[in-house]
Amino acid sequence: MSATPATPAASTTPAEAGSDVLVEVRGLEVHFPIKSGIVFDRTVGHVRAVDGVDLSIRRGETYGLVGESGCGKSTLGKAILNLEPPTAGSVVFDGTDIASLTGEDLRRERKRFQMVFQDPMSSLDPRQTVESILVEGMRAHGLADDKAATQARLRELMSAVGLPPAGLSKYPHEFSGGQRQRIGIARALSVGPDLIVADEPVSALDVSIQAQVINLLQDLQDDLGLTYLVVAHDLAVVRHISDRIGVMYLGGLVEESDAAELYDLPLHPYTRALMSAVPVPDPRVEDSREQILLTGDLPSPANPPTGCRFHTRCPWRQETRCDTERPQLRVVEAEGVSSGHRVACHYAEQIAAGELQPHAVDPVVVTEGFGGPDVDDAPHNLAIGEV
Ligand SMILES: Nc1ncnc2c1ncn2[C@@H]1O[C@H](COP(=O)(O)OP(=O)(O)O)[C@@H](O)[C@H]1O
Ligand code: SF4
Ligand SMILES: [Mg+2]
Repeated sequence: MSATPATPAASTTPAEAGSDVLVEVRGLEVHFPIKSGIVFDRTVGHVRAVDGVDLSIRRGETYGLVGESGCGKSTLGKAILNLEPPTAGSVVFDGTDIASLTGEDLRRERKRFQMVFQDPMSSLDPRQTVESILVEGMRAHGLADDKAATQARLRELMSAVGLPPAGLSKYPHEFSGGQRQRIGIARALSVGPDLIVADEPVSALDVSIQAQVINLLQDLQDDLGLTYLVVAHDLAVVRHISDRIGVMYLGGLVEESDAAELYDLPLHPYTRALMSAVPVPDPRVEDSREQILLTGDLPSPANPPTGCRFHTRCPWRQETRCDTERPQLRVVEAEGVSSGHRVACHYAEQIAAGELQPHAVDPVVVTEGFGGPDVDDAPHNLAIGEV
């Protein structure tokens, strides 16, 4: 890998410089109004895209955010980058509440957090050359004043993402999908960010290319000390890249854990259902393990279920509390569970201890020997391919 293309960004809050946490999200809500009426725009309701999220992203780590389409992952990512104003709650970036920033302060801080989008074709202007795409952001942040230094920096960026310098004069359509995503990554790196939010960074790419782009992101993180929030609906992608993982359901986090522990010991019924759909290479394990088939669609975030948001599909749903009381994300006291593992389920301890059994009533539980769902037939739209 070439020399560091990122310009180290100065911290605006020296007091926080030693802090382990780069991003602190507290009680975050992003609600979109639902409008009705032709003459008068009446608000008839709200889509609760993000509805009470607490999470911290540590410096230098990769936080993976996983969940079905429509559960609010992109909106949460955008709110963290100050691209979507929060309805309530706060996002503190390196000690500064970003919602409180305006004008020059906001502009200066903005270059410290950047986004890589899912579809590189639609996020890159087809009429601009790669050079002009990369210079645009640098110029906006006063990083392209010296011509020779800018040219050197552009070549450095291209090399960092594994593209030849000759590509600078080409247009996005002249590249393959994977190469275009490399340009998207170079654009994010061009202003020297601390945090990159990568929203489904490989979902639009062929499986054979996905691993290359994931590896590039990891190499860049090692070289530049970047912090990542990687949003994906593909469990294999997040597993591969993440240090910690948050599982989202209908606008809220239902489980958060060290990545390895989440896969070894998923505690929330929703996470258990997701994990049970991931094929295991060992046929003996594959044949004997529990497979939980979730029935029912994801309820609408405009009208989320009362109590636990998952109760309409939960195979462990109980008579008390589940329908009426929304569970908080909390540490669970159970064997083998570490203190950083948090779950939003009233009955997590009893489920972990095997004291409560899943019931095959409304959401169907498919057990050993039944074959289980095909990948393509999986009722939820989480991809489970290998990377
Ligand atoms: N700008 C918007 N206006 C209204 N509703 C939106 C807007 N953006 C997202 N939503 C809705 O918010 C919910 C969460 O969307 P999104 O964050 O894109 O989910 P995900 O990234 O997990 O697929 C969805 O129901 C979506 O339709
Ligand atoms: S609180 Fe109840 S409905 Fe929600 S996940 Fe736990 S057992 Fe299921
Ligand atoms: Mg999304």
